[in-house]
Amino acid sequence: MRILLISSAFNSLTQRVYAELGDRGHRVAVELALEEGSFGQAVYRHRPDLVIAPMLRTAIPEEVWSAHTCLIVHPGPVGDRGPSSLDRAITDGEQRWGVTVLQASGVMDAGDVWAFAECVLPPAGKSDVYRSEVSDAALTAVLLAVERFASGSFVPRPQSSGRSRPYLAQPERRIDWAADDTSTVLCKLRAADSQPGVLDDLLGGEWFLHGGHPEDDLRGLPGELVATRTGAVCRGTVDGAVWIPELRPRRRPGGPATFKLPAVQALGSRLPDVPEVPVPLRLPDGRRTWSDVRYREEGSVGLLQFSFPGGAMSTDHCRRLLSAYRFACSRPTGVLVLGGTRDFFSNGIHLNVIEAAADPAAESWANINAMDDLVEAVLRTTDRITVSALGGNASAGGVMLALAADEVWCREGVVLNPHYRLMGLYGSEFWTYSLPRRVGARQAARLLERALPVSAAAAERMGLIDRVVPAGPSEFAGEILRLAARLAALPALASRIADKKAASAAVQLVAHRERELARMRRNFFDPDEPYHALRSAFVRKVEPTGTPGHLLASGGPDLTSSRA
Ligand code: COA
Repeated sequence: MRILLISSAFNSLTQRVYAELGDRGHRVAVELALEEGSFGQAVYRHRPDLVIAPMLRTAIPEEVWSAHTCLIVHPGPVGDRGPSSLDRAITDGEQRWGVTVLQASGVMDAGDVWAFAECVLPPAGKSDVYRSEVSDAALTAVLLAVERFASGSFVPRPQSSGRSRPYLAQPERRIDWAADDTSTVLCKLRAADSQPGVLDDLLGGEWFLHGGHPEDDLRGLPGELVATRTGAVCRGTVDGAVWIPELRPRRRPGGPATFKLPAVQALGSRLPDVPEVPVPLRLPDGRRTWSDVRYREEGSVGLLQFSFPGGAMSTDHCRRLLSAYRFACSRPTGVLVLGGTRDFFSNGIHLNVIEAAADPAAESWANINAMDDLVEAVLRTTDRITVSALGGNASAGGVMLALAADEVWCREGVVLNPHYRLMGLYGSEFWTYSLPRRVGARQAARLLERALPVSAAAAERMGLIDRVVPAGPSEFAGEILRLAARLAALPALASRIADKKAASAAVQLVAHRERELARMRRNFFDPDEPYHALRSAFVRKVEPTGTPGHLLASGGPDLTSSRA
């Protein structure tokens, strides 16, 4: 079928729908709905059999939905309506939710129902849940709706009733530090994470708070800062405390757009004299506190887990993860797993921290070197088998970090963006070694040039990854440990490690790194390179003026061939 995706952004869900429909042989095109009135022309241009809107902030005009079947993906159960469905579900403490695919009509979210899929709502941030449970349910519902449409005989069911709830604006999101208990504070923070954040007053400024995690030990006056930890701040509540990893200053009227930063960096000199309270890498059982890098061991399997907001890895993140990696390598394990957490694995260097630096080119350079040090350490590990376990999406250098391991396992539903050019970068992280090694030179060049998302299934077919793991987002870590234990118990493990060690001597890693970094140096330090303007637009979320050329040219993914 010819399917046109209309979306307000080529966001994670649109990418996944695009990749997974393409996997199933559909010819998929994408148009961003950026201007009023652009829908009609887009639909006319593509002449699709079916229009699907995975994430649309505006209404589809009548001349379009009356002439074509247009299916809207609504992140809420049947009858739920409004622009803040997921935010309100999390605020209300719902434990089960769902995604409805309904036909566009004259009333927003009120059209006939083509499919519905249920999901759980775990205690996690909204965008994490959106990219995980909600994304899984959305794909189930979209694929069912497409199948039903293709059958030609399915009659969508009218909604008998509906409840439209308004946009969840800041006054309703506001935290009353003197009255809200910890669970209420966490619900409010999670419902606003990662966008729009919760607007709050702190240390004489107005900030959007991004992210919220429970703390079981520290205490302080409600709303007051009580501690810091690796860039995050801890604030007291009436009955406990919470960790907030990132802050964004409120934009001044007429001022430039602001962007999120690690909280400690955002506060800068305003930060009062509070203690930095570290936690051990191996957190004792039963502790409930926040940390972005953790290590645990089960038998001869080590699991090094990390989770950075937006998957962005600053120089500091890379260095701390490298030091944790070295610790993990000092342990007597046969298999070392990297990742295994929910949501993003990694999206490469931290563009926001770079943008905020006094010298962004120098910070870019520091960041890519720190990232390369980490990737090189993984590539040089010869005394055990390493596994990258991706519970969520990865892009650019984050994909290449994953490929440094001996095996790459992805949760079903993961989307990979193995390319750099949309950020104006040549790329590093040893991609010139890892990518062709896995998929061949021709496919590697194609992935980089097309700059399109690839589903986990397609990635496995082309040899980019080794295994697709069918598991829910919250079950992924347990499943990974089980699979890793099986790998560690294989009688052939010792000979595999010996073979790996013998083969490693022939690899010219230094030459790969030097060649890549010579190109990256130009990208960073030449002011005429597009990277600086692209980065600035990315962190400030400047909308593109039209559908990007690489999407228009794509006409649907067909990256499913095996090794080129
Ligand atoms: N640095 C800083 N922030 C990043 C980031 C990076 N490398 N990659 C993603 N993020 C942030 C986004 O700004 C966004 O922030 P928000 O939660 O405040 O909105 C969040 O992570 C999620 O990203 P978003 O773009 O909304 O997700 P998506 O699923 O629509 O798209 C990507 C995912 C990875 C394709 C897109 O984020 C991207 O292109 N990232 C940049 C990758 C890159 O070029 N890295 C540098 C080269 S190694």
